[in-house]
Amino acid sequence: MKRLALGILGSGKGSNCRAILESIQAGTLPAEARVVISEVLDAPILEIAREFSVPNAYLPPGQFRTRLEPNAEAELVKMLREAGVELVVLAGFMRVLKATMLSAFARRIINIHPSLLPKFPGLEAWKQALDAGATVTGCTVHFVDEKIDHGDIIAQSEVPILPNDSPDSLHARIQIAEHELYPAAITKLCGEI
Ligand code: GRF
Repeated sequence: MKRLALGILGSGKGSNCRAILESIQAGTLPAEARVVISEVLDAPILEIAREFSVPNAYLPPGQFRTRLEPNAEAELVKMLREAGVELVVLAGFMRVLKATMLSAFARRIINIHPSLLPKFPGLEAWKQALDAGATVTGCTVHFVDEKIDHGDIIAQSEVPILPNDSPDSLHARIQIAEHELYPAAITKLCGEI
């Protein structure tokens, strides 16, 4: 199977990026990480890229807090294109992508979210599930569109909520499920893109 060229974007600790890079290394995910990009200069995800010898870059985000400045988003498109990226993988990327990226990589941007979408979009989805008294939650891999935590669903994994769960314990179990689900979902796309 042809190896799909990935560009991974993240703002934080990068545990999903690590799971993806480990799956590539283990030969279970027929993909190639071309570049890891973060808008946070000292994000651990960039350190993980270096650990796996994957090209990596800091992208200055500009003046906005929740999205990239238009010229930063255009620069992001350029960086991904120059790296030959076919699929953009959001792994804890905390900026909302706008039309420049969405049109350059139409149906080629995916995200992982810590709930069973359409339930609990937005921040701290595990806490939302606990507060709502849900008995099951999970994680979702989906295509990215112009709405937040919205778009066609690619794969989901359920995580039961235990009676004595705290936000931290539940979040930790969801992350374990994410680390299985994301590489598996990308593997599925490798046969389709
Ligand atoms: C994940 O829990 C994911 O669901 C959400 O952001 C988190 C990123 O975690 N979109 P990490 O940086 O991959 O550890």
